[in-house]
Amino acid sequence: TQDMAYRNILTKEDPLLYKKSREVTEFDGRLHQLLDDMADTLKQANGVGLAAPQVGVLRRAVLVAETNVPEGQEEKIIELINPVIVATDGEQTGAEGCLSVPGEYGIVSRPLNVTVKAQDRYGKWFEVSGTGLTARGFCHELDHLDGHIFLEKCQRMLTEEELNGDN
Ligand code: NI
Repeated sequence: TQDMAYRNILTKEDPLLYKKSREVTEFDGRLHQLLDDMADTLKQANGVGLAAPQVGVLRRAVLVAETNVPEGQEEKIIELINPVIVATDGEQTGAEGCLSVPGEYGIVSRPLNVTVKAQDRYGKWFEVSGTGLTARGFCHELDHLDGHIFLEKCQRMLTEEELNGDN
């Protein structure tokens, strides 16, 4: 097996997180290494999504975990290069967090169903639809590519008591 490679995740104080990322134009080994490292980093951090700018690379590439898998199957990680949202439907309101904002969660409304058009790591275009947490992840990660973090969209932050989860 290959060695795992982890990249440092920037936190909300870092100005890079507020910049717009550029399109990916080279679907080469360097991109594949970035995506592989991001997947290792995401798994190690137990996250559901990660955008390239969060590891300091201002390119339009994100990972989102497809969490709606049959029981017993491993979550699949969807790679989205140059992604664009092409359809949304419904609404969900719930808690959201970000690996760049550790320990803080807020209530954010997002579409319930989201379809994204994107390129894969070889440059081939495809469409993928997600619902629930996956749809939330698409929106959250794509926001990172335009320099936005979820704190801007929070209706309110969760309290200490809510975080400790007694209710
Ligand atoms: Ni995030």
